[in-house]
Amino acid sequence: MAPTIIFLLLSLLFIPASVVGLQHHEDGFISVVLSDKGLDFAKDFIVDQAAASILLSQLPDIEKKVKVPLVGKAQVILSEITIKDIKISTSTVKTGDSGIVLVVSGTTADLTANWRYSARTSLVPIGITDSGTATVKVEDLQVGLTVNLRNQEGTLKLILLDYGCEVGDLSINLSGGAAWLYQVLVDTFVGNIASAIEEAISKKIKEGISQLDTLLQSLPKTISLGKTAVLNVSLVDNPVLTNSSIELEINGLFTGISTVLVPQSYHRGPDLSVSSGGSPRMIKISVHENVLKSASSVYFNANNTQWIVDEIPDQALLNTAEWRFIVPQLYKQYPNADMNLNISLSSPPLIQVTDKDIEATIILDIIINVLEADKVIPVVAISVEVSASIDVEFIRNNIGGSLNLNKFSIQLEWSKIGKLHIQAIQLVVSKVLETVLIPLINSLLKRGIPLPNLDGFALENADFLYAHPWISVSSDVAFVGHSYLRQKPAYVL
Ligand SMILES: *[C@@H]1O[C@H](CO)[C@@H](O)[C@H](O)[C@H]1NC(C)=O
Ligand SMILES: *[C@@H]1O[C@H](CO)[C@@H](O)[C@H](O)[C@H]1NC(C)=O
Ligand SMILES: *[C@@H]1O[C@H](CO)[C@@H](O)[C@H](O)[C@H]1NC(C)=O
Ligand SMILES: *[C@@H]1O[C@H](CO)[C@@H](O)[C@H](O)[C@H]1NC(C)=O
Ligand SMILES: *[C@@H]1O[C@H](CO)[C@@H](O)[C@H](O)[C@H]1NC(C)=O
Repeated sequence: MAPTIIFLLLSLLFIPASVVGLQHHEDGFISVVLSDKGLDFAKDFIVDQAAASILLSQLPDIEKKVKVPLVGKAQVILSEITIKDIKISTSTVKTGDSGIVLVVSGTTADLTANWRYSARTSLVPIGITDSGTATVKVEDLQVGLTVNLRNQEGTLKLILLDYGCEVGDLSINLSGGAAWLYQVLVDTFVGNIASAIEEAISKKIKEGISQLDTLLQSLPKTISLGKTAVLNVSLVDNPVLTNSSIELEINGLFTGISTVLVPQSYHRGPDLSVSSGGSPRMIKISVHENVLKSASSVYFNANNTQWIVDEIPDQALLNTAEWRFIVPQLYKQYPNADMNLNISLSSPPLIQVTDKDIEATIILDIIINVLEADKVIPVVAISVEVSASIDVEFIRNNIGGSLNLNKFSIQLEWSKIGKLHIQAIQLVVSKVLETVLIPLINSLLKRGIPLPNLDGFALENADFLYAHPWISVSSDVAFVGHSYLRQKPAYVL
């Protein structure tokens, strides 16, 4: 057991981060916290992928001139040195102010190789050659690396600070040819094979980190939602590393395709930790109510939010005949005339995250029109204030929702058919809300907000937590598809 790598790498964690002074403390409205459990999951995944990518790798040939008593100088070549099997006994990940340390220790590996021997001396004028196969056993292989995460213009930059690889013990067996004769020679190879393995793995670490960095850099900074809105998923500030978590802050606001939002700010809530009751989860994603507000305002600005409703399930209600007893003057003035409703939003729906749900207040302006001989005659205007709550749903990597009507109140704006009892139109408003407007809004909400994700991973066992003004989802992560690493050929070092 060589404790040097672990010690060296871990000691790096306690060097205070040198860039603290450079942080600009911008506000992020979506926060993603990876817990200990999440880090362990990521670590296991990365270690498995790395082991798989090293398996079947071929090391460069090793050639050596050896002095053999009586025979003189001989050349021994080991070729096709291939890593055939890797068994990892332990791996750990630790985070600190200045980085993440990953250590894999107690690993064993089996390699195979071909050996070839040739000698030509003055004593024996004819060249002697011989060949066979060899097996190599590596024990107590230790690999460690320290990386740090930085915000680089809104994307995550992975920086490899230090890394190392040490072979603890290595033995070689030859077979074939006059193997027994040359076995004494192989011991001189032990050092060469060990350093070839160390070099090969070190190279793999550098390549692996650079691939991972490329993947992180290639993640989009915005996610388009249809043709209307764009979600800004740019990173703000550097990731915050503590001894038990990694926190990323994401801008998280919606903007219209061509609008610029004024910067918003908030006072950070006291609790952004992962442990929020129940069993610990790998990841916690918190969404500030400003994210929902920005979505509401973008969608409001993008559409002239106005609907003409001339079809409802209870169609009879859209004819004055149905109203002859309730509003007699309407029927008297326009007998048996069809009607429609001109519904518009005069302001974006107001959205608030409370401690138990999401509440929405929507103010609708409704003009009741009578349709008579190609003419549209506005007869009554009302304003309806709708209070609703939104149930958040979680569909794959999308946060969606459904709106439930809590209550509504009606105010008469004006009437061209004389005095009107508001109760008289309560019924029709209620029908329109239930059968037309709420389903329409729900179909929009169902599309949801996509959470930032990495392809191939999905959240599972998600729990929602409401803590004004944040709504959080604590979840585990599962690997469901092929990642970029799996698609890479694993045979070339
Ligand atoms: C070498 O051979 C010995 C005896 O056959 C065996 O015990 C040992 O495990 C072998 N080592 C390797 C590296 O194959
Ligand atoms: C993490 O750091 C806090 C103080 O910042 C300390 O109280 C806690 O014991 C540490 N946890 C571990 C696992 O080191
Ligand atoms: C997205 O967010 C980043 C970080 O807050 C900000 O610098 C950038 O200007 C935003 N982009 C847009 C298009 O608003
Ligand atoms: C808003 O406009 C977008 C395209 O501009 C359209 O796809 C969407 O259906 C509209 N929504 C409403 C409620 O009219
Ligand atoms: C609907 O009402 C608005 C005023 O609230 C008016 O500007 C618009 O022209 C009306 N649309 C129709 C088709 O009557």
